[in-house]
Amino acid sequence: MSQPLRLGIAGLGTVGVGVVRIIRKNAALLSARTGREITISAVSARSKSKDRGVPLTSYAWEDDPVALATRDDVDVFVELMGGSDGPAKAATEAALAAGKHVITANKAMLALHGQALAETAEAAGLSLRYEAAVAGGIPVVKALTEGLAANEITRVMGVMNGSCNYILTRMEDSGLNYQDIFAEADGLGYLEADPQLDVGGIDAAHKLAILSSIAFGTRVDFDGIELEGIERISIEDITAAADMGYKIKLLGVAQMTGRGLEQRMQPCLVPATSPLGQLQGGTNMVVLEGTSVEQVVLRGPGAGEGPTASAVMADVCDIARGFALPVFGQPANTLAEAKRATSQLPAPYYLRMGLVDKPGALAKIASVLGDAGVSIDRMRQYGHADTAAPVLIVTHKATRASIDTALEAMEGTGVLASRPVALRIEEL
Ligand code: NAP
Ligand code: HSE
Repeated sequence: MSQPLRLGIAGLGTVGVGVVRIIRKNAALLSARTGREITISAVSARSKSKDRGVPLTSYAWEDDPVALATRDDVDVFVELMGGSDGPAKAATEAALAAGKHVITANKAMLALHGQALAETAEAAGLSLRYEAAVAGGIPVVKALTEGLAANEITRVMGVMNGSCNYILTRMEDSGLNYQDIFAEADGLGYLEADPQLDVGGIDAAHKLAILSSIAFGTRVDFDGIELEGIERISIEDITAAADMGYKIKLLGVAQMTGRGLEQRMQPCLVPATSPLGQLQGGTNMVVLEGTSVEQVVLRGPGAGEGPTASAVMADVCDIARGFALPVFGQPANTLAEAKRATSQLPAPYYLRMGLVDKPGALAKIASVLGDAGVSIDRMRQYGHADTAAPVLIVTHKATRASIDTALEAMEGTGVLASRPVALRIEEL
């Protein structure tokens, strides 16, 4: 058997402890599968005295993750601290400079610094791997870089933040509003320390930016993502969308169009009967579409100790086997600058509004939509006790610009009793 593969693990929180547990529990299986013993030389976290529920005394302790990353007895630096900059980035750079392979679960760091880190790793002939960074336990990076390597990828799409999907599906099940379920999710520990990373769509957008780079051979372009979170989704919209046959999801979509790379992370309606529509709770789903394979749907746990550690260990196994791959599937210095699409591809839209209940109100709205070139596909007006009539409209395909023109013109009609909501309907 070859020499052991020696790890240095920085970060002993949810994921780090999960990795230690797998290595301790599955030692024989791992060495049978990789032909090498996988060992831990040293670990690091902020607090040495914290009881983490796993024995750590047989590993050397480093207070400083940079010192850990550069130890002589470490072959692979495993970064599980988090944070786009700070100690995670400093220790990753130090590890690469010291000739160590790096494994990380840190989507924020890769979304913002992936290109520079990839160039550094590849120039040094080192691996930088990150299966756990996107959709937790789902092997989506492997699927794109390896399984679908022969395809021209046409679209990458998915629900990649479990906390948001939990909130949206709990709102639907309970009939409670966003604020109540947000508080519930927070109480259950489902949200990041900064919940805005989840509900603002930022965490999911980090993941989409990484997948987009692999799929389209472009440099990671997080700033190019059109980003909107789920904070403005009301229980009224969830109920109304369901009534029209849809579910609301925080959906990431990346596609190369004739007008450039379109990347968006925003609440969208998807058919209730579709795989994405049926996704419940904290589960993730990624849909990959390629010219030869057509469509592949991956579904699984997007977070949590076991699933995320499982993905980290897949990278450990690859390095132990001597398997090397460019960081984003092709050499980083050949990745093109992403040309951003200036507008989204047309799509049907869902519009919800309250109208003043007087003759001609609906006609005025229909006329404004017609003037903006937006055609109505379906419409529903609900019975109501007060003076505002709730109205739902599903449009035929329209550009976002024409929807915005119509929404602006509606403000001047004098028939709106509440501000209209417009959400894109994603065709699957
Ligand atoms: P976590 O539970 O908050 O753990 C973070 C760990 O990093 C803690 O052990 C902490 O030490 C340590 N740490 C923080 N700053 C440090 C520093 N300056 N020096 C040394 N150690 C430091 O985080 P996590 O949930 O395991 O997530 C880790 C990474 O995995 C993040 O990049 C996250 O985005 C990613 N990820 C997480 C999940 C998930 O389900 N949790 C899923 C996918 C990806 P103390 O324990 O002493 O405070
Ligand atoms: N906050 C993230 C989620 C954790 O809810 O999906 C996994 O990245």
